[in-house]
Amino acid sequence: MEIIIQPTAEAATQAAARWFARVIRENPTAVLGLATGGTPLLLYRELVARQLDWSRLTTFNLDEYIGLSPQHPQSYHHFMRENLFRHVNISGPQVNLPDGLANAIPAECERYEDKIRAAGGIELQLLGIGTDGHIGFNEQTSSLASRTRIKTLTPRTRQDNARFFGSEAAVPQHVITMGIGTILEARHCVLLAFGANKARAVAGAVEGPVTAMNPASALQLHPRVTVYLDEAAAAELALKDYYRWVFEQKPAWQTV
Ligand code: F6R
Repeated sequence: MEIIIQPTAEAATQAAARWFARVIRENPTAVLGLATGGTPLLLYRELVARQLDWSRLTTFNLDEYIGLSPQHPQSYHHFMRENLFRHVNISGPQVNLPDGLANAIPAECERYEDKIRAAGGIELQLLGIGTDGHIGFNEQTSSLASRTRIKTLTPRTRQDNARFFGSEAAVPQHVITMGIGTILEARHCVLLAFGANKARAVAGAVEGPVTAMNPASALQLHPRVTVYLDEAAAAELALKDYYRWVFEQKPAWQTV
């Protein structure tokens, strides 16, 4: 894992945006895995500002709430449209999110997996992290080999997401999420985490044991993961000075 610690979320986002922009420029037909939530908002704004060509990219989002229509203001379809897709030149058929209104959820999950495979797999997967270490909506004790499927959100995640819905009771209980096994098949995973409330989950993911109690720790098994943090999210990392030093010593050919 490469750990990049920046003074602020803005600086960490700038660094991640440079990488995303490079991938999009160098591989205009890339398949991107995308995330929602508060964390990637700045990144999407930054990518929009860079006026990149999205016309031949394909995107797959990590997850969607079950029971919310694409028009629902808290659906991830809506989130992605408002925060990214309507600002860039990508067209509908290239954009993929799980269908939260599907009648047959297992069939929808299989369709999603098949579509990712048919697109050639995900080149670059963006991830946030929950305060309990979840990635996608793979909550604690998710199988580290899981595939796209239904998950029941934990009370903690519903509390964390109540800020978007106005109340915890309004947060749906079920979601469709890519599995951890699905995420680990992306060729490069980029995880962003900002703020003190993520510090413990980040330390567990990066330096703790690989355990289903911190689903993001499964990323330790992936050959190519980059983690962009602000100081607050890095606060509980035992080796943070080492990560900083490694970053400063990077040979020029490795920098973006
Ligand atoms: C969203 C997702 C989740 C979030 C996580 C952090 O698509 O997959 O794993 O990344 O819940 O959410 P924020 O960024 O709102 O703190």
